[in-house]
This record gives sequence, structure tokens and C-alpha cells, in this order.
Amino acid sequence: MVPPRPVVHAAVFALAALQALASDTFIAAVYEHAVILPRAAHKTVSPEDALALMNRNMDILEGAIREAAQQGARIIVTPEDGIYGWVFTREAIYPYLEDIPDPEVNWIPCTDPTRFAPAPVLERLSCMARNNSIYVVANIGDKKSCNSSDPSCPSDGRYQYNTNVVFDSEGKLVARYHKYNLFRQETQFNYPKEPEAVTFETPFGKFGIFTCFDILFREPAVVLVSELQVDTVLFPTAWMNVLPFLTAVEFHSAWAMGMRVNLLSANTHNIRMSMTGSGLFTPGGAAAYYYNSETEEGRLLVAELSARPRLSPTYPPAVNWSSYATSVKNFTEDNTFLGAVRRDIFTFSELKHEDGNYTVCQKDLCCHLTYRMSNKNNDEIYVLGAFDGLHGSVIKYHWQVCTLLKCRSTDLSTCGQPVETAQTKFDMFSLSGTFGTNYVFPEVLYSGVQLAPGEFEVLPDGRLESKNSTSKPLLTATLFGRCYEKDLKHPLRNSP
Ligand SMILES: *[C@@H]1O[C@H](CO)[C@@H](O)[C@H](O)[C@H]1NC(C)=O
Ligand SMILES: *[C@@H]1O[C@H](CO)[C@@H](O)[C@H](O)[C@H]1NC(C)=O
Ligand SMILES: *[C@@H]1O[C@H](CO)[C@@H](O)[C@H](O)[C@H]1NC(C)=O
Ligand SMILES: *[C@@H]1O[C@H](CO)[C@@H](O)[C@H](O)[C@H]1NC(C)=O
Ligand SMILES: *[C@@H]1O[C@H](CO)[C@@H](O)[C@H](O)[C@H]1NC(C)=O
Ligand SMILES: *[C@@H]1O[C@H](CO)[C@@H](O)[C@H](O)[C@H]1NC(C)=O
Repeated sequence: MVPPRPVVHAAVFALAALQALASDTFIAAVYEHAVILPRAAHKTVSPEDALALMNRNMDILEGAIREAAQQGARIIVTPEDGIYGWVFTREAIYPYLEDIPDPEVNWIPCTDPTRFAPAPVLERLSCMARNNSIYVVANIGDKKSCNSSDPSCPSDGRYQYNTNVVFDSEGKLVARYHKYNLFRQETQFNYPKEPEAVTFETPFGKFGIFTCFDILFREPAVVLVSELQVDTVLFPTAWMNVLPFLTAVEFHSAWAMGMRVNLLSANTHNIRMSMTGSGLFTPGGAAAYYYNSETEEGRLLVAELSARPRLSPTYPPAVNWSSYATSVKNFTEDNTFLGAVRRDIFTFSELKHEDGNYTVCQKDLCCHLTYRMSNKNNDEIYVLGAFDGLHGSVIKYHWQVCTLLKCRSTDLSTCGQPVETAQTKFDMFSLSGTFGTNYVFPEVLYSGVQLAPGEFEVLPDGRLESKNSTSKPLLTATLFGRCYEKDLKHPLRNSP
């Protein structure tokens, strides 16, 4: 039966519209910023001195914003703590804070700076966005006064929040997000009472936003992607690299792949603190990234991304992370030993031969590996490792990890310790695990803490495989799983 003409037209039109959306791309930018720090962050300075320091940082950010706009970027992300640094006491950061209103008030600070209490930082950021016709994402501090009518009001009469703000290309404040998962040392800030799931729509997709340590937890990060279906996540961070699984570019690119979402990650740059590694990450891998542990230089990264990756023909299929691993018989499991990756006790097995098949199990997790090295180097030892348990000393959260890992030396007791270089390339590897979670992040890190975009893939049955021989020596290939529902209750939240 032939449907009446208008229906055909509507169908054709809908298809064309969908294809137009699917081909939609936009240019995005992130800026890794070598933050100018206060001379003594524990001392309280005058508001004028605080603003002077923030202006010095904003002078640099302004140059990056202008350059990004000139290269056609529609949005730029700048780092967490990128305007004043870190390691303040609660009192010492106070002069740096502004009272940031809810975006519902519909405010362009650049054109209406006197509408609320003076907020010179918000005003300047708004003008940078407006003057350059670009969305600007920045991280600053919010202050909210409170009193005894609120039983959890801190004794100094105010809440202080680590806060991301977004200004649209006219300079309007369109998003404000208070960091939910503070890192342990961030005692200058308060925990918000509830997680905020902050999103906004643009002509180039739906955006969500969170900050740094948030990326390791369910709320709000997973909620934004799985429930609110954002296309792109904005991610200011001040991330200290921790090998072997948690260097910035390694974990953040893996999160984008595992969650199948764009992630625009802007890190602060400070070599002494091991902070470097930013990127524009997509469901298929890194579109651009930066890692520099040698010099104190910031870097602007610009790349073209799919505005709605779910509609893109290259959108990767959903993965059942345990499908393959639960369907095969265990390979040989012999000579396992225990080793510490920081404080986590892994079960390891040494890869003794140039090629082979291994299984290593710990608790509910069995990890399978098939591999072939290009050259078996007697100066290097690789292991297959499994970990299923709680990680963390104060905040305890559940990891399931399968890893192919280079040991720091030929002494087996160094397996799991940080190592940045390797000599062994692999002709192939295929890693899988009997994960009890849908949240698994596939990491591949080469010698020199370099990513391997395009050189590996995840099959729908959960195998992480090299596509071909690795172009550089391998540090690690890891399936990093998070079992959010097994996390312990947060010990610090809501304690006034
Ligand atoms: C914005 O542009 C105006 C006029 O061109 C200029 O006076 C102002 O300094 C600019 N502000 C910023 C933050 O770029
Ligand atoms: C205390 O705070 C509440 C809510 O912000 C406000 O309505 C009230 O006026 C304040 N009371 C005093 C005594 O300042
Ligand atoms: C994943 O695959 C396993 C094994 O084939 C199956 O038991 C399980 O139900 C699948 N999980 C999901 C969420 O489809
Ligand atoms: C693989 O080994 C683990 C641990 O020894 C065991 O619990 C599991 O049943 C084995 N799986 C198969 C398919 O033999
Ligand atoms: C590993 O297993 C594959 C098939 O699963 C087999 O073809 C290969 O020979 C095995 N390799 C070794 C060294 O046992
Ligand atoms: C795989 O690598 C080999 C040798 O490096 C090369 O000859 C071959 O073309 C590569 N294949 C693909 C699909 O890239």
C-alpha cells in the first residue's frame, strides 16, 4: 500500500532533518592554564590584592579565549582553580569569592554590572564571552550567607562553594554548578547539600557540567549522561596525575569512551603538582590532547566534534562488558601473586612468554588476556592484574579493574608502581573481564604517557582489543570498572 503523499513528504523531511542533525559538528576549545598562584595562599589578602591576582590570570585566559574564537570555536573550557589557584584556608579564599546568582535571573553582567553586588570577575568573564561571541566556561568561588535559621550554617555565617559558571556568546550567565565531590584537601569549600544536575541547550547540542573529582562518582556525572542524555560534558579540573590508571588524559579519554559522550577537559598546568593533561575527548577516542610534564606552559587545544554524537554514524555500539568474559572457559591461571597499586592489593600473574593466554581472578572478577608481544625484552616485565574491592582511605568507593601493566622494574614487587616509559610493543592484545557493572572505562596508555587514538577498540561483547600492532611501547591497557552501588556512605558530606 502506498501512503498518501503528505506522509511521504513528512517522512522524507524528518529523515533529512535527522541527517542534517547527524552531520552537525561544532568547533570546541579547551585551555590548559599554568595558573599564577597567590604568593601565600594561607594568608588573607585584601579584596584589591585578590582581584589583582585574578586579573593576571584572566589576562592570560582572555588571550586564549580570543584565539579560540578566531579559530572558530563556539565554546571554550578553562580549568578548575584557573583564576586563583588552590590550597587556601577557608578564610584566605574569602576575598576571592563572589555571590553568583542562579542563572534563572537572566543576567548579562557585562551590560548590567550593577544589578547585584559588585562582581568584577563575573563581569569580566561575561565581557570576554560577549566580546568574542563564544561560550566561556570558568571555575570560581561562590559565597552564600546564612544564619542560625539554617541549622547547618557554618559558624562564620556563609557557605563557600567551588563553582563552575558558563556564559553564552552574548555574555549571559546560563549555568552555575557547585562541585559535589570535593577532593579531600578542599577544606576551603562546603559540600552542597544535594547534587546539582546542571544542563543547558545550545544550537550545537545539549551540555552538562561537573568538576574534577566528580568524574569518579555516580552523581552528578553518570546522571547527566545516562538519564539527562547530554551530548557534551564540560569538565574544568585541577587533576594530579596518578599512574598507572588515573593520569588525566588516560582516565578522562576512557570515561568519554565508556560513557559514549563528548568530554571537554581543561586541566591546570603545574608540573610540581603533577598537573597536566587536557583534551577534547569523544566516544571514539581523543580528538586532541595535551600532556607536558617538562615545561610550565599552557596550551590551547581546538577540535571539531559531533554536536550530537548519538546521531552520528560513527557512534559506537553499546557494550555488554561481561558478555565475552563470562562465556569463555578460564585460561590457565598460575603463579599468581599479590601486589600493591598504591594501597589497593591486586592479584597479578607475570606474562612469562612472548605470547599467551592468561586468566587472573579476584573475588567476583576474572580477567582474561590474550596477547602477543612484538619483542620480549628481558629488561621488562608485564603482568595481568585483577582488583575487586573498595578503593580510598577516607572516601571509600568500589573498583573492578582488569589490567595489562608494565612493572617498574624486573623485581615483581614493583608491579603497580608508577612507570612512565617502556620498550615493549605488542602485536596484539585482547583484554576482558567478568564485570558486575555497566560502567567500565577502557584505557590504553603508551610510553611517555601518550594516548593511542584509533589504535584500539571495544567490541560489543566487552573485549578491549588492539586493532593492529601498537605504534609505541605499551605502559598499560586497562578496563577500569566502577560499581557505584557498592560505594560506602560518604563520611564527610553534610557535616557542618
Ligand atoms: C570588550 O570590548 C569593548 C569594546 O570593544 C572593550 O572596551 C572592552 O575592554 C572589551 N572587554 C573585554 C573583556 O574584552
Ligand atoms: C536569616 O536568613 C534567612 C534566610 O536567608 C532570612 O530570611 C532571615 O531574614 C535571616 N535572619 C536574620 C536575623 O538575618
Ligand atoms: C551481558 O551478557 C551476559 C552474558 O552473555 C548476560 O548474562 C547478561 O544478561 C548481559 N547483560 C546485559 C545488561 O545485557
Ligand atoms: C574461573 O576461575 C574462577 C576463580 O577460580 C572461578 O570462580 C570460576 O568459576 C572459573 N570460571 C570458569 C568458567 O571455569
Ligand atoms: C591462545 O588461545 C588461542 C585461542 O583462544 C590459541 O589460538 C592460541 O594458540 C593460544 N596461545 C597460546 C600461546 O596458548
Ligand atoms: C598493521 O600493521 C602492519 C605492520 O605494521 C601493516 O603492514 C598493516 O598494514 C597494518 N594493518 C592495518 C589494518 O592497519
